[in-house]
Amino acid sequence: MNFRLHPQPLRNVHTKDKHQNLFLNNKKDDNEQLKPEIIMQELNALIGLTEVKNLISEIYAFVQIQKRREREKLCTDPLVLHMIFKGNPGTGKTTVARIIGKLFRAMGVLSKGHLIEVERADLVGEYIGHTAHKTREQLRRALGGILFIDEAYSLARGGEKDFGKESIDVLVKAMEDQKDNLILILAGYKKEMEWFIRTNPGLYSRFPLHITFPDYSVEELYRIGELMLHKRQYKLAPEAQAALRRILIEQTTKGNQNEGNARLVRNIIERAIRRQAVRLVKKPRLTREELMLIQAEDIILNGRINWVN
Ligand SMILES: Nc1ncnc2c1ncn2[C@@H]1O[C@H](COP(=O)(O)OP(=O)(O)OP(=O)(O)O)[C@@H](O)[C@H]1O
Ligand SMILES: [Mg+2]
Repeated sequence: MNFRLHPQPLRNVHTKDKHQNLFLNNKKDDNEQLKPEIIMQELNALIGLTEVKNLISEIYAFVQIQKRREREKLCTDPLVLHMIFKGNPGTGKTTVARIIGKLFRAMGVLSKGHLIEVERADLVGEYIGHTAHKTREQLRRALGGILFIDEAYSLARGGEKDFGKESIDVLVKAMEDQKDNLILILAGYKKEMEWFIRTNPGLYSRFPLHITFPDYSVEELYRIGELMLHKRQYKLAPEAQAALRRILIEQTTKGNQNEGNARLVRNIIERAIRRQAVRLVKKPRLTREELMLIQAEDIILNGRINWVN
């Protein structure tokens, strides 16, 4: 047996609770515990990401079957769940990692399921011994959950003499020692991550799960925007729909750094909500509909108003 199961009491969270935070999803109570099926629904409610969803469904089924086999005293395969996430910024990597943490907690694979997100500066020190100490400290924080290393390839940037190498060694050792209750996810741009894995052959076999996060299409970005608004109980007026679409098309033309980036949508939406508030605040009487509607004038990018022509 290469993984331990932590039986957890499960409780249902009422749908109402789930829709009360203004900026929910990323601000939900970390201790909130859900049934695996509900967490799978949360995963499936994400826009696009078909390959990611399929792979996680596979892992979900595999873990369940391993548990059932274990109950029947059948031999079980070692469960190695360390992962490599390849993709551009804003393609959903952190969001998916957070869901995976919650899923594994609900399934009893991890005791806590929290996500600790770090980058090179959190792991690598400036003098001998400092790096091992810093890396161990982050591993300690992540125990029972996921240690998510963003731009992980930067650990190998400086070659053999760099302290990044020391951090990799500490991480690899921890993956063996704490494999029962810690999952490591290395994330970064596709090309850089592939180079990283190639130049560190010891890592390849330790990370059996590679997930690619493609850039979102304009349509997917638009649907992500609608979903974000829907969760916050807002909706787009027809002219606002056109304005949002226009910005997305503009911003996702080839070569633009915002291509396929869901963070761009989030910024536009959060800004629109604030602008709607400013637009409405002086009005003495407001209908429910007015409180929900985002107008075209609320949808702007970088201070520029995108009026409908
Ligand atoms: N498929 C999706 N469906 C709905 N919302 C999404 C989806 N993907 C991303 N988002 C939202 O877009 C925002 C950015 O996503 P996230 O932070 O997960 O991206 P990331 O890949 O981790 O980016 P970075 O590499 O810059 O850290 C978040 O607010 C997230 O909720
Ligand atoms: Mg991220």
